[in-house]
Amino acid sequence: MCGIVGYAGRRNALPILLDGLKRLEYRGYDSAGVAIVGSGLQVVKDKGFIANLEAQLPPLIGSTGFAHTRWATHGAPSKVNAHPHIDCTGKIALAHNGIIENYAALREKLESRGHKFVSQTDTESLVHLIESYYEGNLEEATRKALHDARGSYAILAIHADEPGKVVGARNESPLVVGVGPDENFLASDVPALLRYTDRVLYVMDREMVVITPNDVSIQDMEGKPIHRDPQRITWSLEDAEKGGFDHFMLKEIHEAPKAIHETLLGRLANLEVDGFLSQGVTSVKLVACGTSYHAALVGKYVFEEIARIPASAELASEYRYSQGPSERPLVILISQSGETADTLGAAREARRRGSKTLCISNVVGSSLTRETDKTIYTRAGIEIGVAATKTFIAQLVALYLIALKLGQDRGALGYDELDRLKDQLRSLPRAAQYVLDRADEIRNLAKKYGNARDVFYIGRHANYPVALEGALKLKEISYIHAEAYAAGELKHGPLALVTPATPVIAVAVQDPTYEKMRSNIGEVSARGSPVLAIGTEGDKELPKFVDDVFEVPNLPWVLSPVPVSVALQLFAYEVAKMHDCPIDKPRNLAKSVTVE
Ligand code: M6R
Repeated sequence: MCGIVGYAGRRNALPILLDGLKRLEYRGYDSAGVAIVGSGLQVVKDKGFIANLEAQLPPLIGSTGFAHTRWATHGAPSKVNAHPHIDCTGKIALAHNGIIENYAALREKLESRGHKFVSQTDTESLVHLIESYYEGNLEEATRKALHDARGSYAILAIHADEPGKVVGARNESPLVVGVGPDENFLASDVPALLRYTDRVLYVMDREMVVITPNDVSIQDMEGKPIHRDPQRITWSLEDAEKGGFDHFMLKEIHEAPKAIHETLLGRLANLEVDGFLSQGVTSVKLVACGTSYHAALVGKYVFEEIARIPASAELASEYRYSQGPSERPLVILISQSGETADTLGAAREARRRGSKTLCISNVVGSSLTRETDKTIYTRAGIEIGVAATKTFIAQLVALYLIALKLGQDRGALGYDELDRLKDQLRSLPRAAQYVLDRADEIRNLAKKYGNARDVFYIGRHANYPVALEGALKLKEISYIHAEAYAAGELKHGPLALVTPATPVIAVAVQDPTYEKMRSNIGEVSARGSPVLAIGTEGDKELPKFVDDVFEVPNLPWVLSPVPVSVALQLFAYEVAKMHDCPIDKPRNLAKSVTVE
């Protein structure tokens, strides 16, 4: 949550900070602010999007500074709670991403010593704490303050009397350094830096960093220097831009075929999945949040079908606080960002319980990849839209690969079956493209069904989680109330809500529950609900039972979640567009959730 970007160089900092900040807006967008050291400390901040801040900025001059875009945790979105926060002398400015857990105790102590607080944030306690330790050296004061603070943070601090220096520190919130000639950068994520440099180094937990125009120095919390060489980033700024699409979300949905292809590349022939070894694996638990959790739920069916291995899925936020049974499954943690606090907590808990851990992540070097024994990367490319789309598809593909490997090694799959499945996996990019090529059809369906106040999604078996994901997509970007049910559960309660005013979107592809699904569709249409079905190409029967059918290619049921999900993503997109919603930045949400 929150995006921060810092600069120390020879150029005027403001345009660089604003440009970087806009590329981080997906991380939070309820308020924004900037602090620059020129002739003294200059701070401007306000509630609202970055564009609102930009519209009122005076020409701040100075070549050292930072900017922040906020996703509120403590204190409502408002001008006073926006970052930067400043100390009582007005010389120190601080921006923070994370939560200072002992902020109330710190605040009480600092107030009793005369510090004046103006906001309701946890962050403000930190800037006053730094002030209380300041004796002419910002990094020393910051280090001492962080020894007193508990919680998660990526922070940036500057001091009016120390121009040319930005101090950063990280614990459980991402922070990356961009290395350039005569200038250096700090940011929450790489896209903020790409216009200026492709050489980055990652700051690790409990590390501090000081940048000046000519130097980057990383230290541990005791001040001991740490040597780390920069890495080259292989993707370009273009990858992080819209490329002619109206929204990142649409661009990213259209990138599904490429994401599938890249994720499969070089891994299928010998089933070599980043060195993953299946020895000793007798059961699997899949743990994740949000969309990644829906991938985990699909994974349960995939593992049971392909690898014939017991599998279960659990929400990371529940798993980490539950009592584990004594058996030790392979725990697979799924996270696009690799920074989700609950998933990181679950990874630590799985290891504490003695399980081997494997993570599926889209971000190379992300925190989760360091907290788990093994990583399998989805290669979907950067995803900027807050709604996860192509990365969900790539997660499914990674799960298929792991299941194939397990199935092969356990002898659950014969040669022929294995070869057939591999070929079918190779056909997945085409299946996704088949759906994308019929985006116009989906736009028309969105016009017909997208004006309801409530929409129900139903599915069964592996397509029950796909229905859950379809409903999540619709609610998060269009703000229409959408709920998904396992279709067999309708009669146990939800049917009471079904009326002619509540359209039902039914995933009714040909899978082991197809016949049952048709009966469930009968239950809702008998109550007058208009039904849009996602069905299998060539199914002549389904159109007789529903109002509309959108067809996806005929695939084995275990792979059907891929094209169905692409169709449901496009549907949600078109509905949200029709309602003129801020699709890439839905209210109250952020791309990576680094707080519990
Ligand atoms: O980065 P992660 O996959 O761990 O994120 C988990 C969820 O926050 C995320 O999947 C969220 O539900 C989606 N962005 C919603 O589209």
